Amino acid sequence: MDRFRTIIEPFRIHAVEPIRMTTRDERGDRLRQAGFNLFRLRAEDVAIDLLTDSGTGAMSRDQWAGIMQGDESYAGSPSYYRFEAAVKELFPFEHVIPTHQGRAAERILFSQLGGAGRTVPNNSHFDTTRANVEFTGAEALDLLVPEGLDPASDHPFKGNMDLAALERVLESRDVPVVFVTVTNNSGGGQPVSLENLRGVRALCDRFGVPLFLDACRFAENAWFVKQREPGQGERSIPDIVREMASYADGMTMSAKKDPLGNIGGWLALDDDALAERCRTMLILTEGFPTYGGLAGRDLEAIARGLEEVVDEDYLRYRIRSTAYLGEALHEAGVPVVRPIGGHAVFLDARALLPHVAPLEYPGQSLAVALYREGGIRSCEIGTVMFGRRPDGTERPAPMDLVRLAIPRRTYTQSHVDYVIEVVTWVAQRAAELGGMRIVDEPPQLRHFTARFEPA
Ligand code: F0G
Repeated sequence: MDRFRTIIEPFRIHAVEPIRMTTRDERGDRLRQAGFNLFRLRAEDVAIDLLTDSGTGAMSRDQWAGIMQGDESYAGSPSYYRFEAAVKELFPFEHVIPTHQGRAAERILFSQLGGAGRTVPNNSHFDTTRANVEFTGAEALDLLVPEGLDPASDHPFKGNMDLAALERVLESRDVPVVFVTVTNNSGGGQPVSLENLRGVRALCDRFGVPLFLDACRFAENAWFVKQREPGQGERSIPDIVREMASYADGMTMSAKKDPLGNIGGWLALDDDALAERCRTMLILTEGFPTYGGLAGRDLEAIARGLEEVVDEDYLRYRIRSTAYLGEALHEAGVPVVRPIGGHAVFLDARALLPHVAPLEYPGQSLAVALYREGGIRSCEIGTVMFGRRPDGTERPAPMDLVRLAIPRRTYTQSHVDYVIEVVTWVAQRAAELGGMRIVDEPPQLRHFTARFEPA
């Protein structure tokens, strides 16, 4: 099959879900009812849902079979031990603590490591990670390499940490932990190289600070390492993942991404004393340490998902199908973040709508238009998401992007061809789109619930 260009989905469809067709008028009504916030739409009113790749993937028949084997014992379930073994196969940390999703792992860890006066550096914090750091009074600092903030740069590892900046922060601030997010979601789903991780590790060693991975999309990161990093092409994906893990002292994880689960997450680490404190927190709000907020059946689904996601046929299809969407849009003249990331295509709304000031939310305006014209739900990752500072002031985010996140194993090529057509059509009429104004917003994480109106 190597001789043919078309990379086919390495699966057949086993169960289907209906997609409801809607009219443009209907979608206009739904938008007004939702305060022009796509998080407030009912999913039935969406044709192609690219809001997130989190928990929205299709599980395999083996994962569904695993669900039937879930053992719901309160303590010591065999499902926990299968889950723990699958995690340790790739991430051999001493303690594996299941949580109901990634942000619970973050909350528990930062409740122990955060606090006023401290600084947590990351290549780019995801929104919940940032919020969990800031909730403790600590500062969440993004230290991405400059190429990572340039949508047009084709650097192969735009998720890398700026090592010189990290060194300055470690010299001058109270840093309880350094984080690296693989792949870098907020910055375009861009990978981090092994070389960069080694550099971060060396700095952490010099300053005696632990390094944690936010490893949600570790397999996609490993695939990019295999393709792009010199000398890595012959290695197996699990091998590359284990090397990534070897530089870290622990990880937070959302099992809703690469582990192919619909729910779940974990915190894993080597430090016995810190693990003990985290387990105490876990029992307060998540559950006993062998289920931690999940049912035994979910632990089974995640254990099997971890085996499936490192399969090279899957990863080749996954990364290629995301690139297929991104390259087609690029060729049609739509500004996209390049190279195309692993889980999503990021549209550069600031470039496409230069007539809309960042504080009038060009990303939100574009996302609303994609839904109104084509029933496609996307997600603003820009000034709406990141513009509000902890002190209450507002300033433009570094970029105004719209993310088309691709759920795993869920949409076919004709769905993607439709998306290409809709986005291109809207982009050709971008000059007609106006800005947005926020009508009401909560003090934190405003993008989930704020209401907008056309400015
Ligand atoms: N870290 C990263 C890099 C993420 O992308 C997410 C979630 C989390 C942590 C939190 O995990 O949702 O299980 O609590 N990202 C989703 C997204 C929601 O749409 O990108 P969670």
